[in-house]
Amino acid sequence: MSHDSAPNLDFAGTTPYEDYVQADVLTHLQHPRSDDPGEMVFLVTTQVMELWFTVVVHEWETAARALREDRIPVAMDALKRSARELEALNASWKPIANLTPAQFNAYRDALGEGSGFQSAMYRRMEFLLGDKSASMLVPHRGAPRVHAELEKALHEPSLYDEVLRLLARRGYAVPAEVLERDLAQKYEPSEAVEHVWAEVYGGPDQDTELVRLGEALTDVGELVWRWRNDHLVATRRAMGSKVGTGGSAGVSWLEKRARKNVFPELWTARSHV
Ligand code: HEM
Repeated sequence: MSHDSAPNLDFAGTTPYEDYVQADVLTHLQHPRSDDPGEMVFLVTTQVMELWFTVVVHEWETAARALREDRIPVAMDALKRSARELEALNASWKPIANLTPAQFNAYRDALGEGSGFQSAMYRRMEFLLGDKSASMLVPHRGAPRVHAELEKALHEPSLYDEVLRLLARRGYAVPAEVLERDLAQKYEPSEAVEHVWAEVYGGPDQDTELVRLGEALTDVGELVWRWRNDHLVATRRAMGSKVGTGGSAGVSWLEKRARKNVFPELWTARSHV
């Protein structure tokens, strides 16, 4: 084929692009509930974020598995990809970050009781970060596939559990009660684990595999925290202190959620290095 030949236009069935991307499916999943022209970007932003959640979950599951198998470079690649993806996720707040209450009200009622709180993929992200909660499965009782996936994720070691197991295998004093914790419970910060990170970070050589791993996790933690804060500020702008469509107290509830540290000891250990 010469370099100036035109693209192929002749396909017997659907295009190979369509077969791979399923763009026809993807671009017909937008069903606004109101006549307001501003609802489309709210809906698509939400869908775009769901897709990024899906990719990030894939990366963290890849990283967790690789850590379990002591394949650190594979885990690092997945964590670094996830950090770039989280930056793209966070940038996708832009189109809806400055809604006025009147603009949001134009379609808010049409959302009914719908809320991102009911996002199963976001919940899987939180589970992978160690923020497990069986009660978060309750909204999904009516959706067997989603429920089964969440149930599996609830009982699996989180990404952070795998990191702590790796640290233990490398000879660091991660206590047995942390290593043998009930995986379906929320991870609670441990002073001993804080000491471990302080030891990792306080070593004479800063260019170690474990410091690099700690920094990749810190990047992830920071970017998740930024997503929560961007969400909080967008919510404050769009609805002040009204109650949420999901039935929570709204901004004050989100403030409490945003205050939590992802991988807590990676932050607190810094005071002891
Ligand atoms: C300006 C637009 C938005 C407003 C005003 C808003 C408001 C809220 C509120 C008030 C809550 C608390 C639960 C409730 O009572 O509903 C919440 C939770 C949540 N929202 Fe949004 N939201 C917005 C956009 C989004 C978007 C685009 C996403 C993307 C999927 C999203 C994902 C979530 C998630 C995952 C939660 C649960 C957070 C947690 O469990 O900690 N939100 N939102």
